[in-house]
Amino acid sequence: MPKIKAQHRFLCAQCKAPSAKWTGQCGACGEWNTLIENSQMSPGKRGKEGDGVKSARLADVEVSRYSRLHTGLTELDRVVGGGLVPGAVVLLGGEPGIGKSTLAIQAMAQMANDTPTLYVSAEESLEQLALRYQRLALQDGNLEAISTGELSSVIEAIESSKASLVVIDSIQTMRASDIDSAPGSVSQVRECAEVLIQLAKSRSITIILIGHVTKEGGLAGPKTLEHLVDTVLYFEGDATSRYRLVRAWKNRFGTVNEVGVFAMTEGGLKEVKNPSAMFLSGGSEECVGRAVLISQDGSRPLLVEVQALVDQSTLGNPRRLSVGYDSTRLAMILAILHRHAGIDILDQDVFVNVAGGIRVAETAADLAVAAAVISSFVDKPIPADTALFGELGLSGEVRPVVRGEDRVREAQKLGFINIILSAGNQIQNINPVTRRDTPALNLKEVKTALDLRAVLDEIV
Ligand code: TYD
Ligand code: MG
Repeated sequence: MPKIKAQHRFLCAQCKAPSAKWTGQCGACGEWNTLIENSQMSPGKRGKEGDGVKSARLADVEVSRYSRLHTGLTELDRVVGGGLVPGAVVLLGGEPGIGKSTLAIQAMAQMANDTPTLYVSAEESLEQLALRYQRLALQDGNLEAISTGELSSVIEAIESSKASLVVIDSIQTMRASDIDSAPGSVSQVRECAEVLIQLAKSRSITIILIGHVTKEGGLAGPKTLEHLVDTVLYFEGDATSRYRLVRAWKNRFGTVNEVGVFAMTEGGLKEVKNPSAMFLSGGSEECVGRAVLISQDGSRPLLVEVQALVDQSTLGNPRRLSVGYDSTRLAMILAILHRHAGIDILDQDVFVNVAGGIRVAETAADLAVAAAVISSFVDKPIPADTALFGELGLSGEVRPVVRGEDRVREAQKLGFINIILSAGNQIQNINPVTRRDTPALNLKEVKTALDLRAVLDEIV
C-alpha cells in the first residue's frame, strides 16, 4: 500500500473546523486568526488497532427498562415522552425571556422532593434565584442551587451534592478554564456540553441544558449541540402573548412533534389542559375573514384560528404577508384560488395571521387559509360552528391529510357542527350525534378549490 503522506491540516481554535490550508479567517465560523496547525491529525495514525468491539444481533441485546422521572408538569412529561430518562441530556432552547428558567425551576422544584436536584445558574445570583423560587410559591422543598459559570466548580458541586438531576442555566454562560475563547463561543459551548454529557452518561445523571436562541436561530451554540444531546426541546411563543409552547424537535426516548402548552401568568407557568379552546380567541362570534383550522400537533389535535384580511392594493405589486404561516405557501394558495376557483384576487393586498402567536407548519392549514381569504374577499363571515382542514394542490385538488378522524373528533368535542375536509380523508367511525341536545355533525367533503368555494357560498 502506498504510504499516506501526513497532511498538514489546520484546526480552528474557535469552532474546531478543519481546513487544508491556513487562512486568516476561519471559513466555518468567520473568526479571524484562529487557525492553528494540527500535525497530529495525519490520517496514517488512525484506525490501526481496533478495541475488540463485536457486533451483535439487535434482537438479542438486553435492554434495561428505565423508570422515568416525572416532572409534575404533565404537559412537559408528555413532550419528553412520559418523563425524563435517567442519564438523558435534554437541551431546552428558546429566545431570551420566553420562560426557560421559569419552566426549569418549576419542574425541578417538584422533582427535588424525590430526586437530589441541583440548579446551576450562571446568569442569576443565588438571591435572584431564591426570589423567583419563593415568588412562585415554591417556599418549601429540597431544591439546591449554585450560582457559577465555572465548569470545574459545577462538576465539584454535582459530585458533592450527589445530584442525579441537574439544570445548567445556561450552557452559553458556562466556561471551561482550559479553553481560551469567551463563554458563548462555539468552542466553549461544545467543550462544556461534551464534559457534561460524558458526566451524565457515566453517572446516569439527567442533565437539562438551557440554551438561548435568537429569532433567526442565531447564536450558533444550541444548534451545534443538537446532535450531541438525547432530546431537544424548543420553547416558543410570542413574547406579547401569554401562551408558550414546548415542542420536541428530537427525542431519543419518545416521539417528536409533541407539544406542551403553557400560559405565563403572575404565578409562573400554568399548564393549559384544553389548548384548543384557548387558541380560538374570537369565541363564538362570527367575523369576516376568520376560519377555524383543525391542526394536529403531535398526539393531539389543536384548533386554531386563522385570520385573513383582503384589501384593494394601491401598490403595483400587492402585499402578501403572513404571521404564523409560510408566506410562500400563502402566495401559492392565492394563485390556486385565482386559477382554479375563479377568485380574482391578484390585485389585492392579503394578510394572514394565526391567532395566539402560534405557528402552523402543516399543509393541512391550506384549506382554512383559503377559506379565511375567501371570507374576507367576499366580505361574509364563515359560521362560527365551522372548522376546516386539508391540503391544497397546485392543480386545485384538495388532498387528504393524516389523522382525519382524530381531528374531526376534537372539533366535535368543542361543539363544531360543519367540518369542511378533503373527500379523500374518508372519515369513518365517527358518531354524528354524541349528545341529544346538539345538532348532528355535518361533514362537508370537498374535492377541489372550486368545491370549497361552492360550500362556502352555501353556508356564508
Ligand atoms: P425567564 O424564565 O427568566 O426567561 P428565560 O429564562 O427564557 O430568559 O422568564 C422571563 C419572563 O417571564 C419575564 O419577562 C417575566 C415573565 N414571568 C412572568 O410573567 N411570571 C412569572 O411568574 C415569572 C417567574 C416570569
Ligand atoms: Mg433565564
